[in-house]
Amino acid sequence: MYAQQVETGTKAIKSLAEMGPEERAFQEKIDAEIKIEPKNWMPDNYRKTLIRQISQHAHSEIVGMLPEGNWVTRAPTLKRKLQLMAKIQDEAGHGLYLYSAMETLGADRDEEIEKLHSGRAKYSSIFNYPTLNWADMGAVGWLVDGAAIVNQVPLQRTSYGPYSRAMIRVCKEESFHQRQGYEILLHMMRHGTQAQKDMVQDAINRLWWPSLMMFGPSDAESPNSAQSMAWKIKRHTNDELRQRFIDQTIPQLELLGCTVPDPDLKWNEERGHYDFGEIQWEEFYEVLKGNGPCNRERLETRRNAIQDGAWVREAAVAHANKKQKQQAAA
Ligand code: 3HC
Repeated sequence: MYAQQVETGTKAIKSLAEMGPEERAFQEKIDAEIKIEPKNWMPDNYRKTLIRQISQHAHSEIVGMLPEGNWVTRAPTLKRKLQLMAKIQDEAGHGLYLYSAMETLGADRDEEIEKLHSGRAKYSSIFNYPTLNWADMGAVGWLVDGAAIVNQVPLQRTSYGPYSRAMIRVCKEESFHQRQGYEILLHMMRHGTQAQKDMVQDAINRLWWPSLMMFGPSDAESPNSAQSMAWKIKRHTNDELRQRFIDQTIPQLELLGCTVPDPDLKWNEERGHYDFGEIQWEEFYEVLKGNGPCNRERLETRRNAIQDGAWVREAAVAHANKKQKQQAAA
């Protein structure tokens, strides 16, 4: 789908000799691992790429609250309810850090959120899949947050300062998310009935491939990767991180006593990695086009939330304005 753009994207990367003085000085800072800060000069496309990626990252955090929010009232124990609520609140916080990091680039939060609600901005494809039972809460925590950690840990070293600092905070909280998810599954596999063990395997079967798609298209199909790597926005390619996630997850899967729905998965001693089957990219691109199982429901829920919450925002602004007037008059 993106092959043409990949070629264009790769060709667009200039050598230092082809750059003007400002751009060369900028690239030399990047190459010297000096963080780019909001007030520094930066190429327009660097700014645009960061607004694109950070806004979509923030949207993913906010929309990512929905599949789990569905299960707060149906958590099996008070402890599980508290864990799930804490995780969902963390995700909201991650979204706010990321929208704030995005705003340091001059982007307008309301405009970017409007793009999400009108279907013009992306969020992670994984959140367009349904969560059908409690085992899904474990699989989402273990696989989805596990994949997010693999993707986000290198982003702690991204070249843009505010994004890098937001990621350091996010990653600390993600580790709890992944651990609590895995513990839910381990508990079900060790103490559950056969039906509950089957629920765990079914959740993994449904979420395994969509979790691999979270890392984005293959490198050959990724129009943004080459430039993002040159600017050290990305530290690893999509395929490298996908492979890293698989390599670290399979041993955990074996400890659960479960399998993945991939007959081609096997350890390759020579490569030092797991070989795995072909990802169904047409499914991935259909979800990106808005044709996933839950795309419409997710966007409608977000639009309703914004409308239902308007009175809270208006009251908060009115209160802040009143306080400001009182302070000015004092
Ligand atoms: N879902 C939706 N869109 C995706 C996608 C996915 N899983 N993977 C790629 N895309 C989109 C890209 O946004 C791009 O479209 P755009 O140009 O219109 O923005 C297109 O597909 C081509 O992909 P590229 O690989 O060329 O794009 P990137 O270089 O931006 O790489 C990415 C994609 C790896 C997702 C990168 O943007 C990234 O690392 N983003 C930051 C991390 C992030 O957003 N993670 C999402 C999960 S957050 C999360 O899970 C919350 C956790 O708490 C559970």
